[in-house]
Amino acid sequence: MRLILICAILVLAAACSKPASQQVQLSSPDGLLQAEVYLTADGQPGYRLLRGEVVLIDSSSLGLDFGGKAATWDWQSAETDSIRESWEMPWGEQRVVENHANSLSLRLRTGQDLQMTLHFRLSNDGLAFRYELPAQGNDSVLYLREELSAFNLPADATAWWLPGDWDINEHLYTRSAVSKINALSKRNHPNLAQTYIPHNAVLTPFTQRRADGIHLAFHEASLVDYPEMTLGVDTNNLRLNSILVGSDNTPYKAELRLPFKTPWRVVMVSQNAAGLLASRLIDNLNEPAKLADVSWFKPTKYVGMWWQMHLGINSWDMASGKHGATTAKVKELIDFAAENGIGAILVEGWNTGWEHWIGFEDREGVFDFVTPYADYDLEGIVAYGRAKGVELIMHHETSSAVTTYDQQLDTAYRLMDRLGIRAVKTGYVGKIIPKGEYHHGQYMVRHHHRVIEKAAQYRVAVNAHEPIKGAGIRRTWPNVISREGLRGQEFNAWSSDGGNPPDHLPTVAFTRLLDGPIDYTPGIFNLSLKPHKPNNQVNTTLAHQLALYVVIYSPIQMVPDLPEHYRGHPAFQFIRDVAVDWEQSRVLAGEVGEYAVVARQERGGDRWFLGAITGYEARQLDLPLDFLASGKKYRVVVYEDAPDAHWQNKPAAYNIRTLELQKGDRLQLSLAPGGGAAVSLVPVN
Ligand code: NOJ
Ligand code: CA
Repeated sequence: MRLILICAILVLAAACSKPASQQVQLSSPDGLLQAEVYLTADGQPGYRLLRGEVVLIDSSSLGLDFGGKAATWDWQSAETDSIRESWEMPWGEQRVVENHANSLSLRLRTGQDLQMTLHFRLSNDGLAFRYELPAQGNDSVLYLREELSAFNLPADATAWWLPGDWDINEHLYTRSAVSKINALSKRNHPNLAQTYIPHNAVLTPFTQRRADGIHLAFHEASLVDYPEMTLGVDTNNLRLNSILVGSDNTPYKAELRLPFKTPWRVVMVSQNAAGLLASRLIDNLNEPAKLADVSWFKPTKYVGMWWQMHLGINSWDMASGKHGATTAKVKELIDFAAENGIGAILVEGWNTGWEHWIGFEDREGVFDFVTPYADYDLEGIVAYGRAKGVELIMHHETSSAVTTYDQQLDTAYRLMDRLGIRAVKTGYVGKIIPKGEYHHGQYMVRHHHRVIEKAAQYRVAVNAHEPIKGAGIRRTWPNVISREGLRGQEFNAWSSDGGNPPDHLPTVAFTRLLDGPIDYTPGIFNLSLKPHKPNNQVNTTLAHQLALYVVIYSPIQMVPDLPEHYRGHPAFQFIRDVAVDWEQSRVLAGEVGEYAVVARQERGGDRWFLGAITGYEARQLDLPLDFLASGKKYRVVVYEDAPDAHWQNKPAAYNIRTLELQKGDRLQLSLAPGGGAAVSLVPVN
């Protein structure tokens, strides 16, 4: 079977085992995409990606630079195969994921006997390739100077991009033509505790819309033991090329312990923006679960001692005299969570050391992750919460003192296990110690992996802030539940540049969200932030905040505002009702940076929830409800912008309307500028 496929696919193959030609073609299962993989006359591998006659990626070279002169490769063999599997997400946007792709492995060798296999996979939603280096004679380690993967664009396209920062993702998106990308213009940033942008490069996921409407997103999958990839942008030649995040402490960018496989380089392809968000390509390219049983983690909403700090009402440290994490205040929050069926609470500022965390050079040894402040009864809080059905989410701000955290891992995670704490939020604010390392380099990718494995050993789920990319690792390690990795809600509380603009989340939905779950912390009701932050505000309407619980997926969703802003508020009912784990999801409509509409069916239930968000523009939507089960009537509650709502000056104006609808009916929604709508659909019988 495999042999027949090889014969059919090799373009000019004279014999199956030894191709006479140095080009192979691969098709997607639906036949719409084609990849051509070739070796040039001077022994350089390359590829092209087409959709019918349309060139999506023009001839582009591939390679790895180990120093010295460029390798000249000989073609050894090419094998094709196909993958067809379905697998279950233990928690996620959907229960069952289909993985269907055609694959190609091209074995190459140099005159010096260096061997390499290029792996390609082509599925209906895009192309992926990676490099595999088998053990090479006596060499057990290779030092990689740079990865030489290129992506040549045949024409200019509209792009939504973040600068290729080696330290942080917490920038705003810029929309521009690829030919106009200027990442270096983003270097000065008053709001960031760390940032380093050495090249005209962008972060991934990097989303583009071509003139013909086809959307491409460039990203990576299975990021293990290797630096993150940024994409250098040659604006004259419309060429993207891999630039790995490096270190000031080594002349190379990655140490490869053989045998080694790089992460996958991915070009997601879709006819429209919605298709990008619906794709599970990044997850599919990761290894099946190594942690088979994660049943001890339950998707949940959570309250927190958190927004209070960002608003300046309370502080993380005790010395300020307004410490937030006190036993009394945290018990009040637990009561509020219990009253509203919210299953967890995050408490920041619980452990000693916060007097010395930001802006200090000498941060090693400051936090130990086991010693609570004197006014915080950790064990008492755990017991109090558990009696009320509210589990504690632990908090570990490492302040990027990575060695300290590594040394503390066993002690810290053992404490959690002993107390039955099954989730932790980690954080990496500030420049990495040791100096010269960057948040997105191999050093930190290895660190985050140690944390994941340690956490799994102690049955703890991890939500990392200032993280590395997810790149689909949750498939292999489903205790990796969520992450930040973007400009989160917190910027609205204190940034000096006006906060996140109304089109931020309609952009995030088709860019950062392609990397996996986001701990955005939606649901702010007091959008003006008065009286605490008179010069800041949240730049969306209230209905937009509600819709984020559906649109911006995470298996843990925060309910961050102060209880006084939720208590007695009719729209709070949506937050109480909305599910956090899904049977299936439908991306109903959207355009990058403009709007996004998503419907999701709760896991193990028959309720549906729908979220719609828009950017600066008001929008009328007329949505067919063809996803509902037939033969049932649904009670539909719509939380929507009032007719005069506006993100800038009337953000909290909303209405609630109730209807009875069924499959085949249509739902009309009217979104204000910066607005949204959140809808629950519950079967009546
Ligand atoms: C940055 C995180 O993103 C934020 O959520 C947290 O409150 C602070 N660090 C303190 O750890
Ligand atoms: Ca952050």
